[in-house]
Amino acid sequence: MAATGSEIVAIARALPSAGLERLRTRFEVRVGGLDADRERVLAIAPGAAGIVADPAVPIDSPLLDAAGPTLRVVANFAVGYDNVDLDVCRERGVTVTNTPDVLTNATAELALALTLAAARDLGTAERDLRAGGWSGWDPEGWLGIELSGTVFGVVGMGRIGRRYAGLVRPLAGELLYANRSPRPEVEDELGARRVELDELFERADVVSLHVPATPETRSMVDRDRLGRMKPTSVLVNTARGALVDAAALADALRTGVIGAAGLDVYSNEPGVEPELLDAPHCVLLPHIGSATRRARDGMARLAADNVIAVLGGRPPLTPVG
Ligand code: 8YV
Repeated sequence: MAATGSEIVAIARALPSAGLERLRTRFEVRVGGLDADRERVLAIAPGAAGIVADPAVPIDSPLLDAAGPTLRVVANFAVGYDNVDLDVCRERGVTVTNTPDVLTNATAELALALTLAAARDLGTAERDLRAGGWSGWDPEGWLGIELSGTVFGVVGMGRIGRRYAGLVRPLAGELLYANRSPRPEVEDELGARRVELDELFERADVVSLHVPATPETRSMVDRDRLGRMKPTSVLVNTARGALVDAAALADALRTGVIGAAGLDVYSNEPGVEPELLDAPHCVLLPHIGSATRRARDGMARLAADNVIAVLGGRPPLTPVG
């Protein structure tokens, strides 16, 4: 099917073909490109009825001004939408959508991978081997943290937190969670127990973060909370970098306040705080939580279908705000 409408959809950066082709058959599609900077995004916005964004694209008044009154939907190609100024969109009657569910398994699986990789310091072990630093089996070499039977703490029992909790349940001696509201079904199904955040940080051997970045959650893992953790504990962050004070975390790793960390997200991506690059027992990944073919295609289709629904006068599939 060839594009029939004259409506414009601007893909701020990039969208996998699973979603892109759906849009191309219906709209005039402008693509900023993976390396699109702010200027480029502003340049492709004028006259757009829909914008497909991602966490690297701030959706704010200047961009909405650039798009103009034609804009009806911003479809974020991500489950997180802290890049979107929801108030500004609401004021202008612009619908905002995200891509939940389709990336739940991929992201929870990466959190599990990071948990194990951090606990056993797999990054260091692998780098040492490749650098020729393995001279033979050493009973004291590359000692890590064993997790079987330990206390796991899940911060945020939403979709991804719950899936992570299910994945680690067979390993965990005890499962704690912190969430704004109780989740009785998770307590019944997984035997999880809801506790206050400070208690979770004090008691857990593994703390995994699964909350969005909001004014309430920013820097929730600060010097004080790190100081409450056990010296053998592991911190895992696949949510947003803004949740963690990176300098405090690097200090905590260097001084043995906590045992290890596994991070997939940073506050100023693609920048990574230099303190973290130098910190010991720290596995660092380049924001790949949803990076599986299945998840990314699902996200791309859902973002496209949200645009198609709104521009077709139907309710969005997965609105936010
Ligand atoms: C990536 C994510 O941001 O969905 C989110 O909120 O953080 C990840 O899925 C996404 O892949 C980038 O578009």
